[in-house]
Amino acid sequence: MAVVGHVAVPGDKSISHRAVLIGSICEGETRVTGFGRSGDTQATVDGMRELGVEIEWAAEDELVVHGVGLRGLLAGTVDCANSGTLMRLLAGIAAGQNGEFTLTGDESLSARPMERIAEPLRRLGAHVETTDGHAPLVVHGSSALRAAELDPEVPSAQVKSAILLAGLNAAGTTTVIERVPTRDHTELMLEAAGARVRRRGQSVTVEPAGALRLGEVAVPGDFSSAAPLLVAAALIAGSDITIHDLGVNPRRAGLLDVLARMGARVSVFNRDRVGREPVASVQVQPGELIATEITAEEVPSLIDELPLVALLASHARGETVVRGAAELRVKETDRIEAVTDGLQAFGARIHSREDGWTITGVPTRLRGGKMDARGDHRIAMLAAIAGLASREGVAIEGADTAAISFPGFYDLLEGVVRP
Ligand code: S3P
Repeated sequence: MAVVGHVAVPGDKSISHRAVLIGSICEGETRVTGFGRSGDTQATVDGMRELGVEIEWAAEDELVVHGVGLRGLLAGTVDCANSGTLMRLLAGIAAGQNGEFTLTGDESLSARPMERIAEPLRRLGAHVETTDGHAPLVVHGSSALRAAELDPEVPSAQVKSAILLAGLNAAGTTTVIERVPTRDHTELMLEAAGARVRRRGQSVTVEPAGALRLGEVAVPGDFSSAAPLLVAAALIAGSDITIHDLGVNPRRAGLLDVLARMGARVSVFNRDRVGREPVASVQVQPGELIATEITAEEVPSLIDELPLVALLASHARGETVVRGAAELRVKETDRIEAVTDGLQAFGARIHSREDGWTITGVPTRLRGGKMDARGDHRIAMLAAIAGLASREGVAIEGADTAAISFPGFYDLLEGVVRP
């Protein structure tokens, strides 16, 4: 069995969320093409409609957002479902609106930490209530936000974005200190919309905006949706996969470096830009895999791909250590334990650390067996790739949860698998 072919993946989830959220607070129409339709991004479309934004589908992956301006959202309740990005970024936007906004989520989202955004938004003058640090959140918008310099405890693009979005409506210059760079899709899109964003070595600032206008957003392919295929190609002899029109923003595509230094054959070509986002074609073929080390500085650039790195490491000669990834414990599930339990059951030599894993590659293919996705889309996709690379295959409990980010995942995979 091998994975072979030339494919494209649906539009980037992070950028799709942002196109709808930022488009909603722009003037006029924003046309979004290549929108990554998924459970998570649908929650954003539904949520913004709930707050008075008109959004029309123009095609399967194209929509038009009729912006209501920087402070034009109607107060209300939004069900953020499974989406941390929606809840955290919308809280930042709500902070500078009129009225009271209640943000709820499903069981998984309601277990995730929300003080990390509530606290900085309070520092800007918003009134934010959490439920013991979690959702439901109630944001009482304020027309008197004042800028501040904030230094979040965890490197998180969601926290940074919430602050920058609130800063658009705050008096003065809002600064976020960022010691470790995290994905910068918000900064790039705000710049495109005409906001004054300044980026220095370790900080980002935003000035209060008069009006924003996006016009058009073309969304590149989602690197995190491509990652399972890239990893399958690196692991399975005879594979050769190329993914076209793929977002390769360096703050997102850290997996490419890791694949290359572990010994997979990686080539990146047709480099271009879609709006301000870099895109390319990425080809991966297998190689003799060797262990590596993942450090805290590198973690944000591959945070959602780390479960796949654990699978690669399970097949690589030597000991891999992943450090500085404690954030995985507060994703859709505790991804450190989910990966450890799942891969250990297949015969991998993987041990959890508080902030990652230690993994010693085994010389044979993993056995396979059963894996519970634990309601987490990234774990479901990991299980599928572990299954393809294994001797006996993997039965995935809760496989459907992949649709949270990538509804067509299993179909695309089937299309590239060669017996
Ligand atoms: C995201 C940022 C990351 C990532 C998540 C999407 C975003 O979370 O894990 O899937 O769209 O900004 P953190 O920034 O909280 O680590």
